[in-house]
Amino acid sequence: MPLLATATGNAFAHIAYLAWCPDTGEAAAIDPYSIDLVLEMARANRLTVTRIINTHEHWDHAGRNAQLRDATGAEILAPKAAAGVIETVDRMLVDGDEIVIGTGCRLRVIEMPGHTMTHIGLLGENEDGDEPFLLCGDTLFGAGVGNVGYGGHGPTLFATVERLRRMLDPRTRLYPGHDYLARNLAFTLRHEPGNRAARALLDTAGPTPRFTTMAEEEDINLFFRLDRPAVRAAFGETEREARFLVIRRARDLW
Ligand SMILES: [Fe+2]
Repeated sequence: MPLLATATGNAFAHIAYLAWCPDTGEAAAIDPYSIDLVLEMARANRLTVTRIINTHEHWDHAGRNAQLRDATGAEILAPKAAAGVIETVDRMLVDGDEIVIGTGCRLRVIEMPGHTMTHIGLLGENEDGDEPFLLCGDTLFGAGVGNVGYGGHGPTLFATVERLRRMLDPRTRLYPGHDYLARNLAFTLRHEPGNRAARALLDTAGPTPRFTTMAEEEDINLFFRLDRPAVRAAFGETEREARFLVIRRARDLW
């Protein structure tokens, strides 16, 4: 399934996504916020937005659903667990559900709570069918993970990240809701200054989002590198989960 992604340049560093079917031109907008930009991206590529899909209930992901629905007539799909918080949902999503866009473009729903307790991800394959991808909302970011201060739960996020590391093909490319890569790489380098992969990626970071894979995250993401000597030295010789939570707090305060 082809995926269009573009940095919005807005204050939240959102990334706008359209997952679309090349046969029919139908498209799903994932967590649309910069509505004008989403509509322009659809228009420029001759696509019709027929679905809005939310990964979680936060207002900067789901708060402009109605505006895009009014402009397009698209139906709204959102996590079942967020029912009542996200308004006028046409289809509620649970783990394992499949969303078909056009003729056979498929996204699979994965529940991945932690950033909020309703959070889902959308698993698909690139256009050539040789690389999986995960639209991961605010659960995973380039070189980081989501915060837990707005309806989340740290131990649950830890469990989700550990499960995703076990479950996902290392080639899986991550498409997060915000472009925090450069800032997160700087955080990695603050605590692991000898991390060459993080340094190399930071040196090439620019305004166009760079999407990492799960394999790359193993090299640059402190939340994936809990057992590395530098990370243990910086954050304590505790259990993995405790170290994860200490890193999360350090990132909040940084
Ligand atoms: Fe969020």
